Order: sequence, then C-alpha cells, then structure tokens
Amino acid sequence: MMAPLLDVKDLTVRFDTPNGTVHAVSGVSYSLQAGETLAVVGESGSGKSVHVLAMVGLIPKPPGRVAAGQALFEGRDLLAMPEHELRRLRGGQIGMIFQDPMSSLNPVLTVGFQIMESLRTHLGLSKAAAKKRAIELLDLVGIPEPQRRIEQYPHQFSGGMRQRAMISIGIACNPKLLIADEPTTALDVTIQAQILDLVRGLRKQLGMAIIWITHDMGVVAGLADNVQVMYGGRIQERGPARAVFHDTRSAYTYGLLKSLPEHGAPGAVQDGTRKRLVQIPGYPPDMTNPPPGDPFAPRNPFATERCQAEVPPLVQAEGAAPGHMVAAWYDLRAARGAQA
Ligand SMILES: Nc1ncnc2c1ncn2[C@@H]1O[C@H](COP(=O)(O)OP(=O)(O)OP(=O)(O)O)[C@@H](O)[C@H]1O
Ligand SMILES: [Mg+2]
Repeated sequence: MMAPLLDVKDLTVRFDTPNGTVHAVSGVSYSLQAGETLAVVGESGSGKSVHVLAMVGLIPKPPGRVAAGQALFEGRDLLAMPEHELRRLRGGQIGMIFQDPMSSLNPVLTVGFQIMESLRTHLGLSKAAAKKRAIELLDLVGIPEPQRRIEQYPHQFSGGMRQRAMISIGIACNPKLLIADEPTTALDVTIQAQILDLVRGLRKQLGMAIIWITHDMGVVAGLADNVQVMYGGRIQERGPARAVFHDTRSAYTYGLLKSLPEHGAPGAVQDGTRKRLVQIPGYPPDMTNPPPGDPFAPRNPFATERCQAEVPPLVQAEGAAPGHMVAAWYDLRAARGAQA
C-alpha cells in the first residue's frame, strides 16, 4: 500500500475548564489514503469536530491542548508545525467546509473577493487570473451567472448558494484533503442531495481525499468508502462502509444503526427522506470524568467486566473484511446470538 496521505497516531486532546479537564479526544489513530472518502459518525460530543480541528490547529488554546499524538500529512506532523506553515496548508492543500457558511464567509467582503483572496495567497495567482478562476469555481459548484455573482455579498446568496460558495473556497486550491464538518446539516433535503452530487463529482475530478463528519447515515451510505464511528473521544469501529453496516462489530455502531427509522425503533426521527441518528438509551459519559474502561460500557448491554475496567484497543475484527477494526472486549456476534 502507498504511504497514507494522513497518518494520525494516538491523537489526544484535552480542554482545561473551570469544571475540570474535558477528555475530548483520546488515543485516536487511523490513516487516510489519497483519494479516500472517510465518514466520521457518532453522537454529539463524541469528539468528531475536535479531532479534526486539533489537526489543523483550530482549537482554542487555552482551554484546549493537544496532549499527545501526531498527525502526519504527507509525512509531516501537523501538530508540530509552526503556525505560519499550518496556515499555508489550511485553505491550500487542506480545504475545509463547515456547517455554517455565515461564520466562515466574511459578510463585508464580496464572495468573489474571498475566493480570489484564497487563490492569491495560496497559489500566488495574479488578480486577473484569480478572478477568472473564481468565476470557473462558482460555475463548477453550480452557481448560475457566476460573473454577476462574484460581485455580490454573502447576504445576497440563499443558504444553499452560500454553502456552494463555501465549498468553492474549500476546493479552490485543489486540496489533497477536504475536511467537511456537517456542511449540509442545515440545508433542506433537495439542496443537500445536490451538494452531495456536487462533491461526488468534484472528488472524481480532483481526486481529493475527504473527511466528512456527519450525523446522517444516508450521507455515509452515498459518499463514504470508509466509516469511522466515534464515541467518548475514541474510535469504536472503523472499516469499509459496507462492512461496518452489514457486519457490525461494535455494540455502539449496532445501537446507532438499530435506532434508524427503517428498523422502526421507537424514538426514530424521519426527517424528510433523510435517515438521522437518534439517541440510543442512556446518556453519553461525563467527559471531565470518563469511565476507566470502554466509554460505551455503561450503556452497553453486552459489556463484560473487562469493558468496565480497561480501554479496548482498536484492532482488526476477527473474520471481518481487511481494515475492518473494532475496539471491543466483547464479541458482538456471539453476544447477540446468545441473546436471541
Ligand atoms: N472550547 C471548548 N471548551 C471545552 N470543551 C470543549 C470545547 N470544544 C469542545 N469541547 C468538548 O469536547 C468534546 C468533543 O466535542 P466535539 O465538538 O468534538 O463533538 P462532536 O462529536 O463534534 O459533536 P457534534 O455532533 O455535536 O458536533 C465535548 O465534550 C465538548 O463539550
Ligand atoms: Mg461537531
């Protein structure tokens, strides 16, 4: 296998707050190949956002700190990089799109100016070349009349258009890695579908790798090569999307999938045509005082004594597809068989 584009090793992030130290991300390790699309899922507070923000140097410090780990991007550790180099990567080789375009787009600058600025700083394009490219980019993301639109301000765009504009900034410099943190959550279903189509097309065209954080399993199924399921700041399961869905090895993943509407579980929410994750019974752990073992153990009907006491390592699941990893002391298949 080729050297991975991104190699995350033992990433550990803490927030020192007046109420204690939040164990936001603990010992997260994985690698991402060039061109791979990875979906990161998990309940609110599981560390999805913090783990990517920490890698690109965007957590507030203090209260945040990277307590341990490495994040090698093409072999260079992002966590040890001077801020000016990291700044060069962000918006350049690492593109980013977030949930709320209004907080990422500057309201007092035209959309065109903001795209051009990125092209000029990262690629050193001249003003004229940047303008030409900005128009191409708006066209690429499906914004009609791009020549007119680049002169407009964010508030003159609809929500879906703003999201597209933000994507155009995210991909402006042909990133090798695109990080997307729930970028379609606030959009209606039709626009969301259009954006996903758009991203699939761009991925094919640009060959970029993608880390896509989402609560939406429909998005995962439609976009991801691999899925990473997080809980309590740790990876519970990771592997090819199909394997994780159909040969589930983590009780947490199993709980998430069981709570989808198609299984008719109580409390499931049907939101348009989207299948959204809903809470599974119990509460997420207090991350200022996480349980000593598997963070999911207190909610896991299959937990063993060892799960309560000791954190399970993420390892290749027995008899599963290559690269299908699970962190569990219990054997979900055996436990479910015994229960049935
Ligand atoms: N600035 C901060 N100060 C203190 N704690 C923080 C801060 N930012 C995040 N956290 C904590 O870090 C943990 C992980 O948060 P994170 O934002 O990564 O969750 P998430 O999985 O992205 O959730 P969501 O699905 O709601 O976006 C949470 O316990 C959160 O409260
Ligand atoms: Mg988040």
